[in-house]
Amino acid sequence: MTAGAARRDFPALRRRPGEPPIAYLDSACMSLVPRSVLAAMRAYYTETPGCAGRSLHRWAEAVGRHVEETREEFARFLGAREPASVVFLRNTTEAINLVGQGIGLARGDAVLISDQEHNSNLVPWQRLARERGIRVDILPLPEDGSFPSDAFEAALGRGVKLVSLFHTSNLDGRTLPLREIVERAHDRGARTLFDGAQSAPHRRVEFDRNGSDFYAISAHKMLGPTGTGVLVGRPDRLRELRPLLIGGETVEWSTLEDHELRAPPHRFEAGLQNYGGILGARAALAYLERTGLEEIEAAQRDLNAIATRELAEEPRVRILGPPDPAARPSIFGFSLAGIDPHDAALFLDAGHGVLVRSGRHCVHSWYERRNLAGSVRASFYLYNHRADVRAFVRGVREMIERIPVGRVTAAGPPPPGP
Ligand code: ALA
Repeated sequence: MTAGAARRDFPALRRRPGEPPIAYLDSACMSLVPRSVLAAMRAYYTETPGCAGRSLHRWAEAVGRHVEETREEFARFLGAREPASVVFLRNTTEAINLVGQGIGLARGDAVLISDQEHNSNLVPWQRLARERGIRVDILPLPEDGSFPSDAFEAALGRGVKLVSLFHTSNLDGRTLPLREIVERAHDRGARTLFDGAQSAPHRRVEFDRNGSDFYAISAHKMLGPTGTGVLVGRPDRLRELRPLLIGGETVEWSTLEDHELRAPPHRFEAGLQNYGGILGARAALAYLERTGLEEIEAAQRDLNAIATRELAEEPRVRILGPPDPAARPSIFGFSLAGIDPHDAALFLDAGHGVLVRSGRHCVHSWYERRNLAGSVRASFYLYNHRADVRAFVRGVREMIERIPVGRVTAAGPPPPGP
């Protein structure tokens, strides 16, 4: 299947009477789900609605088997030899919290993050700084998308226990050199954790080959249902991790006085799981495999190249991150001089059926340091066609024509929220 040709598989993209066709350019927030994912979730509830690992009847046995098969498929997809490396969680945020709370950080230990992290990879460390006295070191990233290798090396030299970075940025789409980061961090004895929410939907993670200790993803950004995600971890590292939640399904045995936890990954999967969601995520992986990640990324490079070519020369458009769209294929983040980002998003939606995200993209700290109200972000995925990008470009141009600088919208203080 060709990436971009898939629109008809996604019911949300159907034409609604009286409405313009939708150009959905917010997949970095959440992607749409194809029919096969909806069918897999429905099949769980209508065909085998059991609880895995508890009851012995046929439906429970079937769902248990399907969940473990899904674990194997995630391991293959992510390039991890061991299915037991795959922990089912709700999302990337939960995975980062699990590692942060569980890796045994104590007073004086340092965690290194960048100055462009999603709140999910910032505030858990700030809380640990307050509550346990850890140190949070910040690596500033140049705005041109390059990686500051010397500054990274110097930061590692200050004694870092964990390096926790995004792999691909949700703000400007740049991708960090994961291999180099892992090698250097391991040379200094530091562990590594990557927020892979924006990279796993677009390129091979190759977890074992890249050598990272932990890698977190959200299936809802890769055609899966909301509330489904995975932490993949090296088996020895997972064994060292203290679970965030314990209870049903996490214990080997318990008495009134004591308990013994099961081995990973089950010790991290407390309570009845989101079986319908996990099986939906399995169908999402199958869809991605059928399409091909290389194909998906190539199509996004093409779309982003069009947007960049058309808008980079507009004097009021400032594109965030690397100038070369091939270095940020899935994301086109930008600001418009004199136009508030939320007004821009509303204009694109109301006038052109173009759905983008605006604001601070859960990276408040980055905007706050630059005194910016926010930015607009168009993000691409496999159901987007060139027509979507053309509608987006048309919308931005019309906005520039109709809204003179400083006349119609006032950026003012940013509204609360994301
Ligand atoms: N992290 C998601 C985004 O960037 C929510 O939109």
